[in-house]
Amino acid sequence: MTEQDFIPKSYTKEVGSGKVTWQSPSNIALVKYWGKRENQIPANPSISFTLDTCRTTTSLDFQKKEKGTDFDFELFFENEKKESFKPKIIKFFERVEEYLPFLKEYKFTIQTSNSFPHSSGIASSASGMSALALCLMNLEKQLNPGMSEEYFNRKASFLARLGSGSACRSIKGNLVAWGEHKNIAESSDLYGVEFQHPVHENFRNYQDTILLVDKGEKQVSSTLGHDLMNGHPYAERRFQQAHENLDLLKGIFEKGDLSAFTKVVESEALTLHAMMMTSQPYFLLMKPNTLEIINKVFDFRERTGLHLCFTLDAGANVHLLYPETEKEETLEFIKANLLQYCQNEQYITDRVGKGAKKLA
Ligand code: PMV
Repeated sequence: MTEQDFIPKSYTKEVGSGKVTWQSPSNIALVKYWGKRENQIPANPSISFTLDTCRTTTSLDFQKKEKGTDFDFELFFENEKKESFKPKIIKFFERVEEYLPFLKEYKFTIQTSNSFPHSSGIASSASGMSALALCLMNLEKQLNPGMSEEYFNRKASFLARLGSGSACRSIKGNLVAWGEHKNIAESSDLYGVEFQHPVHENFRNYQDTILLVDKGEKQVSSTLGHDLMNGHPYAERRFQQAHENLDLLKGIFEKGDLSAFTKVVESEALTLHAMMMTSQPYFLLMKPNTLEIINKVFDFRERTGLHLCFTLDAGANVHLLYPETEKEETLEFIKANLLQYCQNEQYITDRVGKGAKKLA
């Protein structure tokens, strides 16, 4: 599919007013997206586990009106009016208007809330942007009821990507790949696709315990972060490495090789941070407690032979990934040994999930 396929030619129905609600999860990248070209085209392919309990619920109330010159909407976050979130939504609407030509013909009320604590340092843009994209697609589906499910999902992912790149990996479940890769079926720079290759049962219900090491504001915004890869001395080699790591993961998923999984996933996390440490300007986003946790994870693995591994986003928090079959011992270890490195001992237990869903 190309960008042109997402520009609607005409609508077959008139829709006056209504309300739709979608719940969309966050995701955690195994091969990281870091660096982009214009229009949120990723510089390299990435793959993520869709999460389950970390999610955003968004309702979109719509009322048809005369087409205006501006976007007309109100925004409530956790039941409070949030003027400060509006510029981000306006920017999103501007980017997607070409693909959703009805936007200026409705007055919208957007109500949104997260399942995870506010400013926990958990990225809410992936779940937030995908939930909003799904609500807008739901309205478009009412205008064009003939739309196929595949088109609906791809366009929702396409729109979410224009809001926040990694959000395009939150529409569907388990494993989602985004960005063209020669050996990943149907992969596209424009939207995320469900990973369609064999996945061993070792990866079923994979666990993710998120340790909240630093709940502060992000030190480096995603926009600035991706920009740091322009002219970065190691960028080209890094982009190539992401392709190689995806090939490795494809084999690992098929075989169920948990030790090899650890090697790729931890190396990806450290590479992401190495890119930030070696850019100009440079950033050091890990905290002393991040390193304490990482070293304890190494020790635990060495001592027990279990398969706990870590990954990081662009911040100090740590995602701990482990198989469901090792849940009991691993969680016990985390609670006894790692919570002391979290702010107020805060953590979130999550696992791989099935993707977004519509609420009645
Ligand atoms: O979606 P963005 O622009 O916020 O970028 C997210 C980048 C990482 O979370 C660091 C990696 C990823 O692939 O999710």
